[in-house]
Amino acid sequence: MNTDPYRKHLQLCQKLGIRYLPSEPIPPTVSPVQPTSQKQAMESPSFKSEILAPVDYSKLKVTWNPNQTEIGKKLLEFYGQICECQKCSLGASRKNFVFGSGNPQTEIMFVGEAPGEEEDNQGLPFVGRAGQLLTKIIESVGLWKRNEVFICNILKCRPPFNRQPQPSEVEACFPYIHHQIQLIQPKMIVALGLTAAAALLKTKSTLGKLRNQWHDYAGIPLRVTYHPAALLRVDAYKKEVWDDMKIIRDKFMTMTNKK
Ligand code: URA
Repeated sequence: MNTDPYRKHLQLCQKLGIRYLPSEPIPPTVSPVQPTSQKQAMESPSFKSEILAPVDYSKLKVTWNPNQTEIGKKLLEFYGQICECQKCSLGASRKNFVFGSGNPQTEIMFVGEAPGEEEDNQGLPFVGRAGQLLTKIIESVGLWKRNEVFICNILKCRPPFNRQPQPSEVEACFPYIHHQIQLIQPKMIVALGLTAAAALLKTKSTLGKLRNQWHDYAGIPLRVTYHPAALLRVDAYKKEVWDDMKIIRDKFMTMTNKK
């Protein structure tokens, strides 16, 4: 059996589709407010330039301060490792790789399907109309502001014309969401819509069957609700989502002894 930890780590990277390894440590001033230019990063004495393809940290859409917590730093490192992904054809058509946004130290993660046009333009998840609704849904619970949760998608790149993700795309991208969850270790996951639920739970069941029960993702309680875009089409789903959010809030309060 191979017990060499470095080899094991590199094998995991390979499985995750990682083709570039940024050197350590992460440039110290990377933040959405004050992005580090590649030039600055390369000039930084701690930044080694012998890596295969240097990551341009200034291009990454980072909504958290990677210097604040170890998880934040690891998450940025992971973002840098996968942001040039070309594992499927969406890599060629995307404008931006949409990694995710919010707080890496969150208690709860919201997982959608794939970036749409606005998300592809901005490099951030849920920033279009559905995203505005998602913000309202999150904040209606009364426990979190949008920037206190972590939001991401199953696919990191936009499918052309917002078509449904293909199974091969979900398969190629899935290790990324899995690793994000492993790094963040939220207390709870909310799957938004059937694509997210089916991918995370590895099921072909219907949304109707998957809602109204608790699931488990690698030991983390997972709840399925409607995708916010569905609420923009069907007004009646709003009440259903509100019912789901109350259940999520109650379970969360019980889990964290706030009730
Ligand atoms: N729909 C999604 O599933 N994700 C986004 O980021 C935006 C719209």
